[in-house]
Amino acid sequence: MVNLISKLCGKIDPLSITEYESNGGFSATKKALSKKPQEVLDEVKASNLRGRGGAAFPTGLKWSFTASEDSPIKYVICNADEGEPGTFKDRVLLDGSPFQIIEGMIICGHAVGATKGYIYIRGEYPKTKELLIKSIDVLRKAGYLGTNIFGFNFDFDIEVRSGAGAYVCGEETALIESIEGKAGRTRFKPPYPPVAGLWNKPTLVNNVETLANIPVILNLGAEKYKEYGTKSSSGTKLISVSGNVVNKGVFEIEFGISLREIINNLCDGMDTDKKVKFVQLGGSSGACIPENLLDIKIDFDCLRENGVSLGSGAMFVADDSVCVLDFLLATMEFFKHESCGKCTPCREGNRHIVRILHKITKGVATEKDVEILEEICEVMKTASLCGLGQAAPTAVISCLQYFKDEIKEHINKECRANSCLFDKGAIINE
Ligand SMILES: Cc1cc2nc3c(=O)[nH]c(=O)nc-3n(C[C@H](O)[C@H](O)[C@H](O)COP(=O)(O)O)c2cc1C
Ligand code: SF4
Repeated sequence: MVNLISKLCGKIDPLSITEYESNGGFSATKKALSKKPQEVLDEVKASNLRGRGGAAFPTGLKWSFTASEDSPIKYVICNADEGEPGTFKDRVLLDGSPFQIIEGMIICGHAVGATKGYIYIRGEYPKTKELLIKSIDVLRKAGYLGTNIFGFNFDFDIEVRSGAGAYVCGEETALIESIEGKAGRTRFKPPYPPVAGLWNKPTLVNNVETLANIPVILNLGAEKYKEYGTKSSSGTKLISVSGNVVNKGVFEIEFGISLREIINNLCDGMDTDKKVKFVQLGGSSGACIPENLLDIKIDFDCLRENGVSLGSGAMFVADDSVCVLDFLLATMEFFKHESCGKCTPCREGNRHIVRILHKITKGVATEKDVEILEEICEVMKTASLCGLGQAAPTAVISCLQYFKDEIKEHINKECRANSCLFDKGAIINE
């Protein structure tokens, strides 16, 4: 396990400036503020850092969109909504090293020309929110936030806002609507936030982990930073592991390691005497990868070539006692509940998928239902307005690809895992 971005977590008092500085803290900010914004931007671009919030968009390129906008008011938003089920890595950074995230925001503000930042934190993290408010307060009192920070001719301040539990508010435009005090619903794009975001001003939205990488890049220099990871995926990634493994938790890995190595070497293998059945990668909106493909490397391009995405870096490991249908029902109930209802493919699609899965589980479905299931997934993937609806059927699509026989067995009232709702005799309301 490497320790590039999480090395201070759990090691220092997160509110102590002295402890943070004695571990190299704020040296990156001072370095950045003494450089021209374009130089900082070039360093981040050269690092090949890609966003850790799910889409893996090149961070330097995104920054350059906001930097090139001619506007006296711009914003930086730290996306700390961490709503993807099974994802709990941003919290580790926020609780363990909040100054590091704030440094990332200040450096970003300087590079793109923004003087105001927001941290949007999920409502389910009240203690972390409190810690962030205290961190900002401590830094303001020290002159590290506010006007002429660190004695440089640069102003930057941060406000904390929180969500109220809607998954869609992690999507950057819904998040922006939420900060503006509106219902958390996604906007039509374009324009994209780097050009017109919060209150229609150029707005840079980055994930917590992305921002945590910024001081590291400034301190090491882009070239040294790129020695970590692979050609297409520089640096490290925080992986949140849950499910049937011995050691569950957050691991910082270097890109290039395989899913199997994570399970065997970092998680100490399975917590039962059963075999891995599948790994769902990227949270509930991610694909289920069967055991025979676990040698896939964690690398953005390598994963894409295999038709999967790393997403937020969540890994749910299921052993072969898990019924895929049972699992899919739980996943799709989540999306049915979280769909904001703005567009038809997602609003109706999730509902229909749940209805068909229930039919299959109850043993009253036909082969035609499985065909319809496939059609609905395709429509949602291509026609939904935002990433929620586009990614919601991913788990179903992957299970239809790898576990179709097992799904179809339920039509004949059979469950090879002997564990699904049908076998428990559950009464299901459609
Ligand atoms: C439904 C949905 C939920 C999302 N939730 C989060 C989230 O909780 N945290 C996050 O950083 N990004 C989330 N994203 C991605 C954001 O829209 C955005 O791409 C990201 O914050 C950009 O940061 P990055 O470039 O640093 O990855 C979500 C996207 C969608 C479609
Ligand atoms: S895809 Fe779903 S969450 Fe996104 S706008 Fe449409 S209904 Fe809302």
